[in-house]
Amino acid sequence: MESRASATSADSDGRSRFIQRNDKVPCRVPSKHQHAVASPRLSLLAGFSTPNPIRVVNKPQPQETHEPVLAQDLAQSVVTDANGIYVDATFGRGGHSKAILEQLSETARLIGIDRDTDAVHSAITLEQRDSRFKFVNSRFSELRNVLDSMNIGSIDGICFDVGVSTPQLKNAERGFAFDLDGPLDMRMAQETGSPASDWINKASVEDLTQVLKLYGDVRSARSIARQIVSRRPLETTFDLVNAIRAATPSGATSAKVLSQVFQAVRIFVNDELNELKAGLSEGFDALAIGGRLAVISFHSIEHRLVRDAIRQWIRPSAPRGLPVRDEAPRARVVLKNVRPQYLEQRSNPASRSAMLQTTEKLR
Ligand SMILES: C[S@@+](CC[C@H](N)C(=O)[O-])C[C@H]1O[C@@H](n2cnc3c(N)ncnc32)[C@H](O)[C@@H]1O
Repeated sequence: MESRASATSADSDGRSRFIQRNDKVPCRVPSKHQHAVASPRLSLLAGFSTPNPIRVVNKPQPQETHEPVLAQDLAQSVVTDANGIYVDATFGRGGHSKAILEQLSETARLIGIDRDTDAVHSAITLEQRDSRFKFVNSRFSELRNVLDSMNIGSIDGICFDVGVSTPQLKNAERGFAFDLDGPLDMRMAQETGSPASDWINKASVEDLTQVLKLYGDVRSARSIARQIVSRRPLETTFDLVNAIRAATPSGATSAKVLSQVFQAVRIFVNDELNELKAGLSEGFDALAIGGRLAVISFHSIEHRLVRDAIRQWIRPSAPRGLPVRDEAPRARVVLKNVRPQYLEQRSNPASRSAMLQTTEKLR
């Protein structure tokens, strides 16, 4: 199978440099990891007008729960009209959805989106309990299609809580965690694309190095890339851990390096930064005037991408050399760089790097 990596590219504004992936690569999952679901994106969408909009997915559901981060700050900052229409673009296990629903009246609506079919189980439970809530199994970059299919023109608020959920991390079969042995998969939607091992076993040292540097800030990226290539094929998470250990002086392989490498591969495999960029743009476009967009991001490259998007809405920049048109801002900042308080960080260590930004659309 061909490699999915290619050269790093610059966007038209020349500022963001995301590695391009070829999404047309067919799904090739080793049969022992194949699940009973083969739903294409938006597969659950068609049922929205029916009384039972969610297709029951015949797969084991992880029991782990997810502790939502900054839930009250997010919900209170995003809801401005208790009767409005809202979107939780990263439903997960529904922690933020529940916090938002608490702010809404009986006539309001909340649409939950998640690309992972493992989120469906919690979504069904919430749908059955609360008729204001509907779930769609999709990527948030498809927001416009999701809204069109529900005849929704504009929304009053949208939130993103990016990254992976605790249930995804704690399920060894998903391959996200360096401390659990499992297939080297790392896909957020296991029905699409191909597992991380496909790319890792084909990519050049150059591509591997670039991904580790760009998406993980990995210092010893090149030596880790060389070890990966010399030890192929890598099939499991522990194969990858062993390659990382072999590339770093004995005893010096910290959890930080392991998590940086896993993060980098995960971001690449799921095309997360292009997704986030597209999702923010779709989300902002879908907002009614006065509507709000809230994002919780977890690491520096995400923080930067979110701040850049917000800056563009507030003060659009022209390509270098061209004059900037003096236009009124399209957005204003509601919350900037909000971090979890000490007590939340202590009770939920996963929240420590979280940062919340909320923006309001002005025009
Ligand atoms: C940190 S978790 C969200 C947890 C959620 N806020 C809660 O309280 O349970 C991130 C979720 O976003 C989903 N996700 C990540 N990228 C996505 C995308 N591009 N489109 C839709 N869902 C995405 C993941 O599958 C995961 O379930």
